Amino acid sequence: MNKVTVSAPGKLMLLGEHAVVYGQPCLVTAVDQRLFVEIGETGDGKVTIKAPESTDTRFVEEAIGCGVSTWKIKHQGLRIKTTSPFSGKYGFGSSAAVTVATLAALASLFHQEVDKRSLFELAYQVILSIQTVGSGFDVAAAVYGGTLFFTKGGTTLAPISINDLPLVVGYTGVKSNTVEIVKQVAAKREKYPEKVDRIFEATGKLVIDGKKALEASDWERVGKLMDFNQEYLRDLGVSSEKLEVMISAAKTGGAWGAKLSGAGGGDCMIALAGSDKREVIRKAIEAAGGQVIDVRPNAEGVRVET
Ligand code: PMV
Repeated sequence: MNKVTVSAPGKLMLLGEHAVVYGQPCLVTAVDQRLFVEIGETGDGKVTIKAPESTDTRFVEEAIGCGVSTWKIKHQGLRIKTTSPFSGKYGFGSSAAVTVATLAALASLFHQEVDKRSLFELAYQVILSIQTVGSGFDVAAAVYGGTLFFTKGGTTLAPISINDLPLVVGYTGVKSNTVEIVKQVAAKREKYPEKVDRIFEATGKLVIDGKKALEASDWERVGKLMDFNQEYLRDLGVSSEKLEVMISAAKTGGAWGAKLSGAGGGDCMIALAGSDKREVIRKAIEAAGGQVIDVRPNAEGVRVET
């Protein structure tokens, strides 16, 4: 059977979640937890999807439909298999990664030359058609990899060069519902437009400062900016008790800074810490009821494996 396997990385939001939905920039890094999509031609005329770690195959279905119509692909049946060590559990952006990997695998199997920008645009369209909301930062991380300075829809999509990014990642054990939380923030903005817009503007400024600090490996400053960002996210009402306890634990353990990462309500928190503090912080996060996940940031974007 003629087949192709493609992988795409997950992501972590470093700074700027929520504000990015309203036009402010954010900083996102791709992580080395990768999602794999294998597509083969079968000849049975059907499209079969096997996704053992996921009950939601809409993103794969929609990506196949989008790719087939965009590239005018004529196939005799496809078998698609997804494999993911991280599934939807941690909030690492499995929907974006599976969408990007499916489109890239389909393009590769049918010898379509697709540049990164077109892949981003198509995948973002697929995500929006299902989720209706979202800035596309997770799609950008899956396509480009590395660490990106990003604005909604990819109007700015700039890779930033960093030497290192000493993150500790803690999972709350609680799955957060991104679409729901984005809608809650929208409702809050309806009610308190000036206050919420002021938070978004301040977040945007902090992200610009954070880009410079990251590029200079000024961890103390990046950490401080993470702390400020966490205060804004708390004011938006998207933090949770569990996140707060884990963030405080990391700070008490000597982190330069700590915040939630993503929509909030659950999923993961991130802390920035030097190598001498990491073990203490790991234990503190675990004592606070979190699970430390070993991931490396700044991972490679989508790639054909075989
Ligand atoms: O829940 P996540 O990790 O997909 O992060 C959502 C980040 C938001 O800014 C709240 C939404 C978005 O699409 O940018």
